[in-house]
Amino acid sequence: MSENILIINCKNYVETTGDDLLLLADYVSKVSNDLGVKIYLAPPTSYISLLSNLKDVLLLSQHSDSEDVGGTTGYNVIEILKIAGCSGSLVNHSEKRISQSIIDTVVTKLRKLNMLSVVCARTPSEVNHLARLNPDYIAIEPPELIGSGIAVSNAQPEIISDSVKAAKSVNPKVQVICGAGIVKGEDVSESIKLGASGILVASGITKSNNKLNKLIELAKPLAN
Ligand code: G3P
Repeated sequence: MSENILIINCKNYVETTGDDLLLLADYVSKVSNDLGVKIYLAPPTSYISLLSNLKDVLLLSQHSDSEDVGGTTGYNVIEILKIAGCSGSLVNHSEKRISQSIIDTVVTKLRKLNMLSVVCARTPSEVNHLARLNPDYIAIEPPELIGSGIAVSNAQPEIISDSVKAAKSVNPKVQVICGAGIVKGEDVSESIKLGASGILVASGITKSNNKLNKLIELAKPLAN
């Protein structure tokens, strides 16, 4: 398996619900095996359990809360996400921001439960602060490019290289991936050249008319 990762965030796009989501999960398993690329799928929360029985599909939660098991109605409790089949979680996504102290608690809890933490940041300076919390990955995503179809690697390449530097200067172990506007294979290869260890993508796949071909296109540059 390559060290680079690809994360598909389905958000709450209706195009990745029901049978369409099941089909996408099959593609994830196929492409991941064929190309040897680690691919994580972050489905709408209500679908996590349904997908957990599928072989070779690594699931992430789109968000985790710091609340504990028990009387915590409506929260995404990490222990329960694990029981439901998640391997880890996105944390502090631009569309679901939380405070630094809650990020800290969530990352610590994920690590204790052997789950992957992917903390999102909007700027290299945020990357610098968040790297101190020792997550597995930091995903740099300029919010104005999210869903734009204009890739961060194209529009603001220095944000990726600066984020890699910002992370490594405080914590050499943390890996930086990037997202926002990624729609083409070249966007991915550029990101890797700039020092990223993978990508976080949503609409490039969820809105594609041919999800299998698009997934292959975006995963290929991540293969060894
Ligand atoms: O979580 C990924 C996301 O915020 C990027 O969205 O649609 O620009 O790939 P998109």
